[in-house]
Amino acid sequence: MSDSTFPQGFLWGGALAANQSEGGYLEGGKGLTTVDMIPHGANRMPVKLGLEKRFTLREDEFYPSHDAIDFYHRYRDDIALMAEMGFSVFRTSIAWSRLYPNGDELTPNPQGIAFYRALFEECRKYGIEPLVTLCHFDVPMHLVTEYGSWRNRKMVEFFTRYARTCFEAFDGLVKYWLTFNEINILLHSPFSGAGLVFEADENPEQVKYQAAHHELVASALATRIAHEVNPANQVGCMLAGGNFYPWSSKPEDVWAALEKDRENLFFIDVQARGAYPSYSARVFREKGVSIAMEEGDTEILKNTVDFVSFSYYASRCASADMNDNNSSAANVVKSLANPHVPRSDWGWGIDPLGLRITMNMMYDRYQKPLFLVENGLGAHDEFNAAGEIEDDYRISYLREHIRAMADAIADGVPVIGYTTWGCIDLVAASTGEMSKRYGFVYVDRDDHGNGTLARTRKKSFWWYKKVIASNGADL
Ligand code: BG6
Repeated sequence: MSDSTFPQGFLWGGALAANQSEGGYLEGGKGLTTVDMIPHGANRMPVKLGLEKRFTLREDEFYPSHDAIDFYHRYRDDIALMAEMGFSVFRTSIAWSRLYPNGDELTPNPQGIAFYRALFEECRKYGIEPLVTLCHFDVPMHLVTEYGSWRNRKMVEFFTRYARTCFEAFDGLVKYWLTFNEINILLHSPFSGAGLVFEADENPEQVKYQAAHHELVASALATRIAHEVNPANQVGCMLAGGNFYPWSSKPEDVWAALEKDRENLFFIDVQARGAYPSYSARVFREKGVSIAMEEGDTEILKNTVDFVSFSYYASRCASADMNDNNSSAANVVKSLANPHVPRSDWGWGIDPLGLRITMNMMYDRYQKPLFLVENGLGAHDEFNAAGEIEDDYRISYLREHIRAMADAIADGVPVIGYTTWGCIDLVAASTGEMSKRYGFVYVDRDDHGNGTLARTRKKSFWWYKKVIASNGADL
């Protein structure tokens, strides 16, 4: 329990991502992205994981990102709803392929710039601070087919050109930036995470860690450019977070949990501390990985982030004998199902104390301000007889997690803000479903693309408005 209050100026809001909300997948000159190729249904996972090459769209499949929730056309009304809840921050991403449809052009698409300027101006109109991710899973497809995506060093040049365009075009409108969403997901879901597909005869670990190196260099360069363009810019990295617990107190299980944490924290270790961690040499040796670096990379990596952002849905659990058969399929980051925590409709753990543990660990490790940029409960919502959605389960999940965050603040962890995931219902990244809902606002659309797209406020809408108005005191 906590009676701590949030600091003055704490940023409260919610988060969406371009690929899961905008739709308009070929409008305004936008090019196809990796996410546009990922269908709903049985073929989704093999494509997401990079095991099945899918470089063309099929007529017999449904692609949820193509229309998503039509935020591209409805953003004004949606932002008005956020303003009504009292948001002081709104996290979204820029679709790289709206600015650079193929990804390797030398100049940006003016229609893409105009769209995001209008979007960020709309936020500013209500005093909402945009928090903008440069790449939330959606790599332009042309970069995948022509260059092999992040396995290719040329991506560093393409990404930094795109990043500079964003910093310059939206200077004065956007101050908080994230380079790559959940950068560690590259290891767990290589196609949706980083546009990687594998050849039969190659070591996937080699491809993934080489791609990771390119992303880390690109992220550090983008951070440097952001500060050059405007020293007031604040740049963060972004981790798919959640500590691993050992399955038991057996030393082997404790070691397994530590190794699993390192696998994910590796990325943030580089982005927040400016160098490869000492343990990485052994990991690379054991995986048969040898990273090709260019002269100057070590210096580039020293451009560390200003803050560390992360998503937290649940803690994780590992044992020494964990394998694909006993790991839970609840998330792309494999974990044992911890019997001590309840589960959501989709089998994801519900563990608020795990958030406090994760936040304390991250601040102990990095000594940089944290930003919790995704947290929430994916659940089935049903209208009652009065035509309302009484999502008390969601309120309860968020309340407990906000309490845990308050406890972490009381523990001495500096936190910039909190953006709940999917503040308006959107397409689920893992399953492509609309029925896995996170929002304070219901969107009338089903898993197969039917529905009017009308927005309806849920009970949690009014609850969150009260939370924000009281700066987290009235939960
Ligand atoms: C994170 C992603 O992994 O979790 C989001 O950054 C995603 O894009 C969120 O939507 C929740 O996962 P899901 O599969 O329920 O949408």
